[in-house]
Amino acid sequence: MKKLTSALLAVSVISSAVAADSAITAIKVNGNLDKVSYNYQVWNTAKFSTVTLYPQTTITFNDKKANEMNANNSAIKAEVAAIYNDSKIAFMIKWPDGTQSIQQGDKTDTYSDGFAVQFAGNYSNPKELPYIGMGSDGRPVVIHLQKESVKTYEPNGNGDVSHQVNRNQTNLFGKDLANFDKEVKRTGSGDYERSFVGEGFRSMTEIKDASNSSYSRIAYENKGWMGTLSRPLKDSYVNLDAAVIPVAFAVWDGDKLGRNGLKYLTAWTAVELQGKKGNKDLVAALHGNVEGDVAKGKEAVANNGCVGCHQVEATDAENLMGPSLTNIGGYSTADYIRESLVNPSAVVVPGYNRNAHSNYAWYNVENGKRVSTMTDFSWLEKADLDNMVAYLKTLKAEVK
Ligand code: HEC
Repeated sequence: MKKLTSALLAVSVISSAVAADSAITAIKVNGNLDKVSYNYQVWNTAKFSTVTLYPQTTITFNDKKANEMNANNSAIKAEVAAIYNDSKIAFMIKWPDGTQSIQQGDKTDTYSDGFAVQFAGNYSNPKELPYIGMGSDGRPVVIHLQKESVKTYEPNGNGDVSHQVNRNQTNLFGKDLANFDKEVKRTGSGDYERSFVGEGFRSMTEIKDASNSSYSRIAYENKGWMGTLSRPLKDSYVNLDAAVIPVAFAVWDGDKLGRNGLKYLTAWTAVELQGKKGNKDLVAALHGNVEGDVAKGKEAVANNGCVGCHQVEATDAENLMGPSLTNIGGYSTADYIRESLVNPSAVVVPGYNRNAHSNYAWYNVENGKRVSTMTDFSWLEKADLDNMVAYLKTLKAEVK
């Protein structure tokens, strides 16, 4: 019997240990990092690491076609590198995508490929990182978003309609058009770069003032995208000048109607800045082994009524009473999962559409604060919690 238990334990520990991506090393460089793009020489000295992006399945979209197209998404493997100098840090992400979908100006009914790099406003406590994707109350994030965009040109800045001409009237406008097209070529920008600060659901605000001096580019080549971002190590939103920082990556697939939360994302990933001294607890918190017995955790989840509110495994029925947990192990840290169980209101997941389904509210507002409708499981034995966390960490799509 003793033999059997230890064999089971060994299996469960391995199953969670193999899966996690490892930390990324940011290489210190001498070159200027103000305007870095994918063909920048310095990337040759960078160290690329593999990260896995999981389909975000937290909520069900109000879009039947999109839901069908994304029902059985597998995970995506991407290559990521980071470099830094005394004032800037830069990232490059390369990910496969068989179809190139391009943003059509500011249109909201076309969907494009793109990527985002996310930073935590505060990461002094690795157990309390912001909610992935949009931050949470008291835990802000900064998100840099870039999509490939068609070239646009507006003669006098925003919305200058008085200069629009009918392309068919070449006798009247031929010369103007030729000049206009030339001008588009010269000054038009294929750049969609945006930066946001977020502190939870509906709080995402675009940074439009001069405090945003990031620079991001995207390029499609050989059935894959290359995206780059360079930004200050320190600005008024985040301080990345540390031995280890948490970073998360997201990508969108326009061909699959991807937008907003319909994306692929990594969990918080540790980036170690080569040569910097300081606390490295983050590396262990984000990439260390998750202690616990996966098989017992699965049993505990079954015994505690989680499926009453959650779709837990992909084979379970959809359940609107709570977020789907089918990929929770992919984009969440073990500490986040534990916190969800013992203190559900610490981070409240942006709820199900309250207007459409008011009877399935994921939270109520009490005294101006969101209070989760999830049962508090802080009364469970530590071993049960450990096991559940270990099991939940295994819930994620495969890479195909
Ligand atoms: C009464 C319904 C209910 C039950 C029972 C319930 N949950 Fe939840 N759970 C929710 C709701 C609603 C949310 C979203 C609000 C929030 O963040 O707390 C949630 C959030 C979560 C999250 C965070 C999900 C994310 O996408 O970030 C996890 C993890 C979780 N639950 C796990 C569990 C586990 C494991 C159990 C069983 C031990 C369980 N829940 C039982 C309703 C429930």
